[in-house]
Amino acid sequence: SPPAIIAPSILSADFAELGKACSDTIKQGADWLHVDIMDGHFVPNMTFGAPVVTKIRSHVDHPNAAHGKGTFDCHMMIAEPKRWVRDFQKAGCDLYCFHYEAAISSTAADTPSGQSDKKTSPKELIRFIHELGMQAGIAIKPKTSVDVLWDILENPVKEERPDMVLVMTVEPGFGGQSFMASELPKVTALRERYPDLHIEVDGGLNEHTIDQAAEAGANVIVAGSAVFGAQDPAEVISKLREAVER
Ligand code: DX5
Ligand code: ZN
Repeated sequence: SPPAIIAPSILSADFAELGKACSDTIKQGADWLHVDIMDGHFVPNMTFGAPVVTKIRSHVDHPNAAHGKGTFDCHMMIAEPKRWVRDFQKAGCDLYCFHYEAAISSTAADTPSGQSDKKTSPKELIRFIHELGMQAGIAIKPKTSVDVLWDILENPVKEERPDMVLVMTVEPGFGGQSFMASELPKVTALRERYPDLHIEVDGGLNEHTIDQAAEAGANVIVAGSAVFGAQDPAEVISKLREAVER
């Protein structure tokens, strides 16, 4: 199964020192940086957009391998995921993870074919993200069944298949919420069928909840408050990694 990847969420970092927080976290042993993008529509909160990502990107070396250290894992909690693909690619995003729920309900303003009135399907969006040279992730909220993903993952066309699935273990929108163990059967079901898929969990991960998530088969671990609220972030990062590798 795929390697353990620890991805601190910079949502819980000091936004006035964001560039430094990014480089410090990588030095403390993080693999990826989890960058939460919120638009105030898809979720009831706002963070920042591509111009900020452009600036903080320069504080961290680009990954030299597909899943390498320094990957900017952008979690797009936005109502129009297709609209922002180009801007985030230009900003230095390496992995563009959109929400299934947003993709199926948004009408895209920007499509590869230039047809502005077309609905976004997850597979078209994944293809577009890949065409721009990024990895593609698809996220599901707690209320969304994992069953919506099977057709997408079974697609014989490689360019239209996601590189990662994100199973939310809190309602998206805020850091510091309690872990929902009720979401773990989704991870188990995904891992049973896809031994090599990156499966990311996000929300409420810490030293107390990591074992359940790792046991279910998650390999990409997001942690915001657990890392940035710690006295010793490096120790938390290594404990999370050990739990996944165990
Ligand atoms: C929530 C975000 C998470 C958040 C996790 O909407 O997607 O990435 O930062 O924060 P913690 O780890 O504190 O639950
Ligand atoms: Zn997130």
